[in-house]
Amino acid sequence: MTRLGILLSGRGSNFQAIHRAVERGEIEAEIALVVSNVPEAAGLKYAREAGLPVWTMSSKGVPRAEFDRKVLEALREAGVEWVCLAGYMRLLSPEFIAAYAGRIVNIHPSLLPSFPGLDAQEQAFRHGVKITGCTVHLVDEGLDTGPILAQSAVPVLEGDTVESLSARILEAEHKLYPATMARLVGSRKQ
Ligand code: GAR
Repeated sequence: MTRLGILLSGRGSNFQAIHRAVERGEIEAEIALVVSNVPEAAGLKYAREAGLPVWTMSSKGVPRAEFDRKVLEALREAGVEWVCLAGYMRLLSPEFIAAYAGRIVNIHPSLLPSFPGLDAQEQAFRHGVKITGCTVHLVDEGLDTGPILAQSAVPVLEGDTVESLSARILEAEHKLYPATMARLVGSRKQ
């Protein structure tokens, strides 16, 4: 069974979607560790309530290389094989990326390469695009630049606000991320 590590900084709804898919046997994996650089992240509360192992430490004021070394140590100790970034709002150090080369996955709320970085939904909305969406991709050293694994298109509708558009994109994220992980590590269901 593939051992997944989840990295998150906030709400953790994508993590929850992955967890539910794991529980249903749709992703042939177990969640070996949930990591957060934000000790009060809501996603950690869910992880604890679900009985999952958690590792957290505030990244505030800690140099990136040093922080990432600690995260790496925790992931290795937990035997993590694949890393899923789920709203992890930090760039990873080159050492981290090398340690899990080709096995770090991220979800981003736009059709990359459009609108990388922060507030992707708002960037798309302000730009006036008629179609946006979400992307699951492998992580390299750039900001949202790694090889694209899967995308889901989401229309921008008449009368949309940034909030309503973000909610529609999030629904698509919750389907796309688990489905892509199942493709990567296998599924017990067809
Ligand atoms: C998601 O919309 C995710 O795509 C985005 O943060 C949100 C996290 O929500 N990630 C990025 O913007 C990464 N560049 P969640 O904590 O509820 O999964």
